[in-house]
Amino acid sequence: MHESIYTPSEDSYLMSRILKEQLPPLLEKNPDLKFLEIGAGSGIHLQTAENLGIKRENIFSSDINKASVSHCNLLGFNCIHSDLFEHIDGYFDIIIFNPPYLPDDSRESKFSKLNTTAGKKGNEIILRFLKEAKNYLKDRGKIFLITSSLSKEINFHILGYNEKEVGCEKLFFERLCVWELEII
Ligand SMILES: C[S@@+](CC[C@H](N)C(=O)[O-])C[C@H]1O[C@@H](n2cnc3c(N)ncnc32)[C@H](O)[C@@H]1O
Repeated sequence: MHESIYTPSEDSYLMSRILKEQLPPLLEKNPDLKFLEIGAGSGIHLQTAENLGIKRENIFSSDINKASVSHCNLLGFNCIHSDLFEHIDGYFDIIIFNPPYLPDDSRESKFSKLNTTAGKKGNEIILRFLKEAKNYLKDRGKIFLITSSLSKEINFHILGYNEKEVGCEKLFFERLCVWELEII
């Protein structure tokens, strides 16, 4: 079995909707916005960022899954193979992440887990991401991050961020939210 690229799902569509609402006013203020997506998957948000007017040369991305990296490169986007920020350089106005956020489930395959599962509590990858992300944000830069009610709650303040809930979606078995985060 190979590492499969994450097929856009409810969480992806929620993130897309929020980007379409939140990015235009930010772009109006700064047409040179530098945008980074961690965990680009199918590239759905890279495409949205470009459609909204972010210059292609200002769109950067990464994924831990080499199949996603190749796919996004084929679409013409700058995407590198990296575990979170391991190989990322520079500072960004916007960083987005639709992370693996589910608690471990032994019935799930190893490859599917790469897309969905973060560890025992479900918030492990988000915690690692938030500890590192502040080193890559420009002054007044913003993070857009998805969390799920199925994973252990996160105290953004303790990690050094002010949070604003910018959109949620109730699904059959969980509630997904997108948070806008800024360094305190
Ligand atoms: C839920 S999918 C989201 C994909 C896409 N952004 C979307 O919204 O449809 C999570 C993505 O994060 C990637 N990923 C998981 N762990 C990662 C890590 N440590 N560093 C970078 N990417 C990671 C997965 O390979 C997958 O592409």
